[in-house]
Amino acid sequence: MMNLTIVGTGYVGLVTGACFAEFGYSVTCVDKDDKRLEMLKSGKCPFFEPGMDELLDKHINKTKLISFESTIKNNLDNTDIIFITVGTPTRRLEDEADLSFVYQVAEEIADSIKKYSLVVTKSTIPVGTTREVKKIISNKIDQKLFDVVSNPEFLREGSAINDFIRPDRVVIGTDNQKSENIMKELYRPLFLKETPIVATSIETSEIIKYASNSFLATKIAFINEVADLCEVVGADVQQVAHAMGIDKRIGSKFLNAGPGFGGSCFPKDVKAFASTAKNKNINLSIINAVNKSNEDRIKKITGKIVSNIKNKSTICFLGLSFKPNTDDVRDSTSMKIASNLFEKGYSVQCYDPKAMNNAKKENSNLIFFNSAYEACEGASAIIIGTEWNEFRALNFKKISKNLKEKIIFDLRNIYIPEDLKELDFKYYGTGK
Ligand code: UDX
Repeated sequence: MMNLTIVGTGYVGLVTGACFAEFGYSVTCVDKDDKRLEMLKSGKCPFFEPGMDELLDKHINKTKLISFESTIKNNLDNTDIIFITVGTPTRRLEDEADLSFVYQVAEEIADSIKKYSLVVTKSTIPVGTTREVKKIISNKIDQKLFDVVSNPEFLREGSAINDFIRPDRVVIGTDNQKSENIMKELYRPLFLKETPIVATSIETSEIIKYASNSFLATKIAFINEVADLCEVVGADVQQVAHAMGIDKRIGSKFLNAGPGFGGSCFPKDVKAFASTAKNKNINLSIINAVNKSNEDRIKKITGKIVSNIKNKSTICFLGLSFKPNTDDVRDSTSMKIASNLFEKGYSVQCYDPKAMNNAKKENSNLIFFNSAYEACEGASAIIIGTEWNEFRALNFKKISKNLKEKIIFDLRNIYIPEDLKELDFKYYGTGK
């Protein structure tokens, strides 16, 4: 059985730890944040992710395969693989990823390593970072004591456990056969499901991660611009995307038009990818355009709402997380549009099934209600920003009674326009 140490109990670290424990490995999760550790030790997940509470409870309290430490210092005698899963936020005023946390962990590993271990970078990091980690560690200890590996994650919030256990592929970037073999052994439980394991060089692996996320972001930005054209000429972007997606060369996924991509990955990764390339004198012009197109979209959608409703009225905003099944509001397009509307003088009544606490911390000027129905009371328009399941079959007859005006902006196209028009709503979808 392998012993794993995971440094950083953020989203990626915890999901990785919990899923490796599910495979039967012994996992030590390390984090400097004492408050977070206390919460975790009691078996509670610090964020909402379907299935995580159960998995943590099982492996912390029952199988005892997961334990927690505040430092790696005393832990490395018994570790086969160390994963670096700390954050790589965008630097203020620059588009580059801030790698200081990654390099700090590399220093700590160098100070603490006692026996041969693999050091695996799982955080999303620009090409060249894993080599830099190698350099930092080998400045202090013998190269025979460790190898470095790049092993990017492709987890989606809201379905992260399933993405980990049934991935489309596992990518491992190494510079020698020994580390490749150890990584293949680690992921052996997935061979039974015939998961493709793609073994590459370290640099190739690092690029695969950014290229994948940037490509998916490109698909979204592309269909969003097509949606703008559809609106003007009276075409339907959903039908366009459907027909396009049937072509296997294009594929149907990530062609849903909406208010733009958000979340903790796409906006940050697109910027960091272009920025890394720029540092190497390569212009990723398409990726730069994707970023700009997505940033401009917030203003465009705010403008569309404002020009179709009365000044400074009350509006109801449903869905604040950057996508359904998560409480994450980082770079959430809903939060940005709701905040813009507040700035323009509207009173914004909000509801989200899971993200209200995080939303309150980000913008306390929004007014929060305990249900979609309460948030609609007295509103002159309803905006659906995030396509949570519980917004898909709202009782609009009931809602209508308490509205000042019957206007709906269905930014995620979850309703059939005719159904709402029958109830005398003015309906604005995206790209229809
Ligand atoms: C993403 C990648 O999918 C995952 O592989 C990577 O590891 C981390 O980043 P995540 O950020 O959880 O995952 O969300 P994702 O489902 O990819 O959605 C990102 C954003 O794009 C959301 O704001 C979502 O609403 C938007 N989106 C997605 C669309 O607007 N249209 C689509 O068709 C798909």
